[in-house]
Amino acid sequence: MANRSHYNSGHRMLNLMNKTGKKHISDRDIGKPDKTKHLIAIDDCVNLLKEIPDNSVQLVLIDPPYNIDMANWDTFDNYIEWASKWLFEAERILTENGSFVIFGGIQFENEKSGDLLELMHYIRHHSNLKLVNLIIWNYKNGMGAHRFFANRHEEIAWYVKSKKYTFNLDAVRIPYDDKTKKTYLTDKRLNPATVEKGKNPTNVWEINRLNGNSKERVGHPTQKPVELIERLIKSLSNPNDVVLDFFAGSGVTTRVCIQEERHSVSVDLDPMLPTYLQRHIEKMGDLLYSYQLITEETEFNIHPVFTNK
Ligand SMILES: C[S@@+](CC[C@H](N)C(=O)[O-])C[C@H]1O[C@@H](n2cnc3c(N)ncnc32)[C@H](O)[C@@H]1O
Repeated sequence: MANRSHYNSGHRMLNLMNKTGKKHISDRDIGKPDKTKHLIAIDDCVNLLKEIPDNSVQLVLIDPPYNIDMANWDTFDNYIEWASKWLFEAERILTENGSFVIFGGIQFENEKSGDLLELMHYIRHHSNLKLVNLIIWNYKNGMGAHRFFANRHEEIAWYVKSKKYTFNLDAVRIPYDDKTKKTYLTDKRLNPATVEKGKNPTNVWEINRLNGNSKERVGHPTQKPVELIERLIKSLSNPNDVVLDFFAGSGVTTRVCIQEERHSVSVDLDPMLPTYLQRHIEKMGDLLYSYQLITEETEFNIHPVFTNK
């Protein structure tokens, strides 16, 4: 796909379809579930991925080790050789309208054995996944620097399997402030209904990282903010879909799936995952929706997440 910041015929066509009430091929409404199911597994991701049926997951959302020696799980002799095993499985299990989202960073000065750039190069040459956006996750908080510009971003690469991918832009639009909205509503070139809905968040997302004392923290060293995961899950899946996070860490993906009525499968090597998730759930307060956790202590079976949804 070309870089479409200047001219975008697809955008014009979608505007016309909106005006005439026509639906895009990716539009689907699969209803809301009475109860969502969430499998929590402690395992190596490749083992669990082998159990997952082909074309069964709407959104694979992962925040893998960045290979920067953050912890004992974050050091690799050959990062790409390791990653190729789960990349292959991720593509296999995605639905036709599914998305694959991968967090990562680019290593400067010392490339070690691989980083997000190398993963993206590998995906380009060894898979049929198509890159839709490279999202820049920009945060204001971080370390200072003297010999280079202080780093304030990580990347999120969003891939799809086909042009039929789900994209719920309206679910994640950002409301205009009152003054801008008033001005835009008087601008004849703009569609008032779209102005009311808010703006496209663009591919640069300003969301702060969690500080050490953030109320969201549940104890995992590299926990991602709920707001970030929410934007991805709401835009790239629908209620009743299955979302998979196979580097689940604190279980934040499960937390958002419970709240947004998606089913989920979360796996991590770290046996602390259920404890972290319990802390997340306690922070969620009263829930409007019902959900079921499937853990090794309950009747552990991956299939109910994919069937009888
Ligand atoms: C960057 S953290 C994920 C943090 C998570 N996104 C969050 O917000 O809480 C990466 C996680 O991958 C897990 N991990 C590393 N290698 C793994 C493997 N082979 N299979 C499953 N999990 C693995 C680590 O235990 C760690 O919790």
